[in-house]
This record gives sequence, structure tokens and C-alpha cells, in this order.
Amino acid sequence: MSDDGHGFATEQVHGGFLPDTAHGARVPAIHMTSGFLFDDFDQARERFAGTDDGYTYTRLGNPTNADVERRVALLERSAEAILVGSGQAAVTVALLGLLQAGDHVVSARSIYEGTKGLLLQNLARLGIEVDFVADQRDLDAWAAAVRPNTKAFFAETIPNPKNDVLDIRGVADTAHRAGVPLVVDNTLATPYLVRPVEHGADVVVHSASKFLSGHGAGLGGLVVDGGRFDWGRTPERFPHLTTPDRALGGQSYVERYGSRAFVVFARDVVAARIGPSPSPFNAFLLRQGIETLSLRVERHVENALAVASFLERQPEVTSVDHAGLASSPYHDLAQRYLPRGAGSVFAFTLAGDEPAARAFIDAVQLISRMTHLGDVRSLVLHPATTTHAGRTATERAELGIGDGLVRLSVGIEDVADLLADVERGLAAVRAVVGPDGVGREARPTSPTEVTVLAHTVPQGHVVAQEV
Ligand SMILES: Cc1ncc(COP(=O)(O)O)c(C=O)c1O
Repeated sequence: MSDDGHGFATEQVHGGFLPDTAHGARVPAIHMTSGFLFDDFDQARERFAGTDDGYTYTRLGNPTNADVERRVALLERSAEAILVGSGQAAVTVALLGLLQAGDHVVSARSIYEGTKGLLLQNLARLGIEVDFVADQRDLDAWAAAVRPNTKAFFAETIPNPKNDVLDIRGVADTAHRAGVPLVVDNTLATPYLVRPVEHGADVVVHSASKFLSGHGAGLGGLVVDGGRFDWGRTPERFPHLTTPDRALGGQSYVERYGSRAFVVFARDVVAARIGPSPSPFNAFLLRQGIETLSLRVERHVENALAVASFLERQPEVTSVDHAGLASSPYHDLAQRYLPRGAGSVFAFTLAGDEPAARAFIDAVQLISRMTHLGDVRSLVLHPATTTHAGRTATERAELGIGDGLVRLSVGIEDVADLLADVERGLAAVRAVVGPDGVGREARPTSPTEVTVLAHTVPQGHVVAQEV
């Protein structure tokens, strides 16, 4: 329920809607315009001064983009959102809104490779340092990584490909004890599965290119501010927000905007200057996607769990990384934070290493070979030779990404068709690897049940996970 009593599905369709007073359009218009007319000389001056809050130029704001911002802020039960052109732009704007040269970030190690690259290459060149926590469940490790110049914690609610669910409350409390905000990438969970600010996170980022859109027809990203972090509590920690600013007539962002200080700075100083502006057409596509988010994600998680359970029973498969399975070391965290389901992006490992993975991926016909996630279509990828090819074998081993690991993003197709395609892939694995390459005996077949978070799915054959 939102503050006005509406449930999620209602909010995803109606939230933040502003009636079109000119024409009464039920679906808001796409405002494909670079700029906006000023009525007269004085209005131009007032818009630049901020005393008239109308639009000026699309890099600084656009009504179609603002529609999406209002809706996502509501869905995340947050104060305010900024729409940008991609997920990477969102992570960049969020971090540059907090950090400057000489600052330090503590990040989970299990994060999207693009974000890891941003931290290690781009932000490092600006003098921003990062330490990675190897086991994000180890709250002492987060605390031990804090330095006097630490300004933010960063993590993902459901990292890929390992589906190693974050203890949001534990990490948020640890961040707050250090006086810094927790920034969480909620791309793979979406606010339908978890709203991180309800568990203590301060800033949420999204690649809206994934589940929020669902159609895979355009990129987008969001920075969402929970609105609860006290930016002025330790004034020396965020000097860009707490010291007098010429553009604000000598006031600081905290003095002028209070709890909105960070999000105003991120919008007006970071996003507006760097310019990762989304096209209003992409914002429109994104809003169309958001209107069916809960329905799609329900189907995604149901299908993903069925596929994961099926894979776990196959002799060609040595392990399945899906926190919805009772065998997962992250199952307890999934039950706590993701009662509706642990998402639909997960990995499984085939006995037979790369040849087995190659056979599986080349054999599937329905599942698309693609580097993308959260699409209505099911997708498959081999991380060791694609997303994680730039890592050494040792680094991949530390991340649990072996040569036989295959990543799936399970879509909303009929599950019987998906299972048939997966079986087609496994048949190809059998043909290539042969019985000797298969790592173990067929698993026990006693009929039992897997407790699957909120609901129980009857299963034919279930076994404990092999590590
Ligand atoms: C968790 C996560 N965050 C951010 C991104 C970057 O998003 P985009 O591709 O929209 O820039 C991705 C992309 O795969 C992602 O998986």
C-alpha cells in the first residue's frame, strides 16, 4: 500500500498521472521537443532563476520523463527519482552526486561487471578509491573496510549471475553506523519484489532497460532517493552539499533543500552537466512497460523457479544458483527480503565445462543467445567467455563463475515450452560430453516438495545442493 492506500498494481498504472488539461489524452503525450517556449522576457528570467518551475530544455527536464520519475518514486516508496538514459548513467550520476577526488566507496564484490569497471577504471581516474567485500553477508567485513574518507556503500539486491541475495537491512545498518548512505542497484528485483528503502537503503538505482521496461526496446536508468538520509549530520563528509554555493546565493544545498539536498545536486549539477538525458520517446516506452510490471514479474519468477527446480534434478547439472531453492545458501535471505520470488536471472553449472556450455547454448531454439536481462523473452549467456572474459580464471573462480556456468534470464513464455528447450540443450550436452563427462549419478528421485518462498510447488525429484 502507498500512502494514499493504493496497492502496487494500481500505482504502476495510475501513479503520478497528471491529467492532460489541453486535450484530455488518457495516455500522456510524448513531448519530443528539445526546448520549451517562454511567454515573455520575464518568464525566461524566472525559469532560469528557478522561481517559475516550468520547463526550459529537455536535458534539464521534460514532462514525459517526469511522468516516469513520479511513478517510479511511488513504486519504490521513495521521495524522488531522476530518469537518465541508461542504467550505467544512473549508477554514474548517483555516485558522482556523492563522491569527489580523495573519497572511498565500499562495494559488494558481486556486482554487475559494468559497474565494477566504472569504479575501477573511470572513478579511479578521478581519484575515487574502492574496496570490495568478498562475502557480502559478512557485515564485519563491510565495517572493517570503512576508512575516514568512506562516503558510500554500494551493492545490488539480486546480483547476477549467482543470485546471491543482499542482506539489505544488515548492510544499511552497517553503513549508517559509519555515517554513510547505502546505494543499492535494484535492477534485477524491481520494486515489485523488494523496495530497498523500506529495509534501510538510502539511494536506489535501476537499469530500466531490464524488467522495468520488459520489452527490450530501449535503454533507461533511474536514480531514486529515499529522502531519509541526513546529509547535514556530519557536514565535513559531504562538503558539496553543506558548504555555501554561489548558484544558491550563498546557501548550501542542505540549507536550501534539506533532505532533498542530494537528489537536487544529482539532478541539477551532475545529470544536467554530464547530460545522460533520455529521449522522451524512450521514457514513453518505459512507462508502457512499467504499467504491466507486477504481472510480468509474477510470471518471470514462477517460470524461473520451475526451470531452476528442473535443472537441479538433471544429472548433467552440478549446481543451480537460485535463492528460491531450499538448497541455496541465500535461501534464508530470499525468504526474508523477496517473499514474492528471487527474480528470474540465475545460473547453473554443467558438468563438462566450456564444451558442455557451448553445446547447451548452441542447441536451444526458443531461448535467445543475448547479453541482456529482464526481457519478456528468455535469454542465455556464457559469462566466462563474455561478460567475465576480462577477468582471470582465478578471479572468475573467486566469483564462482566456472567454465561450465550458464546464465539464464527466464522470460514469460509458457513454461512447458521453456522446459522443452532446456531439455533440448541438455540433450546436446549429453551428445557432446557423453556419460563419462557427466559429473555424477542421477539424483535421488523420492517425491517431495520444495518450499518456494510464499508458495509451495510440488516437485518430482529434489535433492540437496552439491557444493
Ligand atoms: C544490475 C545492473 N545494473 C546496471 C546495468 C547497466 O544498465 P544499462 O545497460 O541500462 O546501462 C546492468 C546491465 O546489465 C545491470 O545488470
